[in-house]
Amino acid sequence: MRSVNAAIIYYSSTGTVHALASAAAEGAEKAGAQVRLRKVPELAPPEAINAKPAWAQHIQDTADVAEAALDDLAWADAVLFGTPTRFGNPSMQLKAFIDTAGGLWHGGKLADKVYSAFTTTGTAHGGQESTILALGNVFYHWGGIIVPPGYTDPVQFELGNPYGTSHRAADGAPGDVPLRAAAYQARRAVDIATALKAGRAA
Ligand SMILES: Cc1cc2nc3c(=O)[nH]c(=O)nc-3n(C[C@H](O)[C@H](O)[C@H](O)COP(=O)(O)O)c2cc1C
Repeated sequence: MRSVNAAIIYYSSTGTVHALASAAAEGAEKAGAQVRLRKVPELAPPEAINAKPAWAQHIQDTADVAEAALDDLAWADAVLFGTPTRFGNPSMQLKAFIDTAGGLWHGGKLADKVYSAFTTTGTAHGGQESTILALGNVFYHWGGIIVPPGYTDPVQFELGNPYGTSHRAADGAPGDVPLRAAAYQARRAVDIATALKAGRAA
């Protein structure tokens, strides 16, 4: 059986989500998937970006990451979305990309895939769960198979977020535990997508 396709589609202003997305991409690859790591297009005006050096720097640092396209959604058997929290919700950049998917949705091309989500916040109670659950609303509309990490691996007891990998940006760049959790979350999504594909082929 051909291996499954996994798309890691994310937005990041200052690199925290990007670090989790990269770990997820590695985890998916190690699980045997064909992987596309994709950033969604930046929509903020240059004045806003340039007013925050870490933001402008991150854009330069990730110039070689390809931008997400609708084909990445159509291609994937498993999709992991990553976004920073914005007022307890996904970022507008990620949401804008998702909102271009109406044609795929209408054609039934987003159903029956595995979906999972991860996020970062500024503060501990700043909306990690609410952001991941908000993305869950989209997955319901798409007829997706939502695969949360739960407490299905020891790393999840270290991380403590069963909804999806999360990290508090105020603690600095994600360290060992969130990076391993992101890799695990991707592996789990790929494993479930692989099992579904095998079952459908049987
Ligand atoms: C407009 C805006 C809204 C934000 N809203 C929240 C929030 O509701 N809760 C929170 O904890 N952090 C909030 N933050 C902080 C970001 O979530 C944090 O900077 C981000 O997770 C860092 O990820 P990145 O480095 O990938 O950009 C907000 C930041 C901005 C710019």
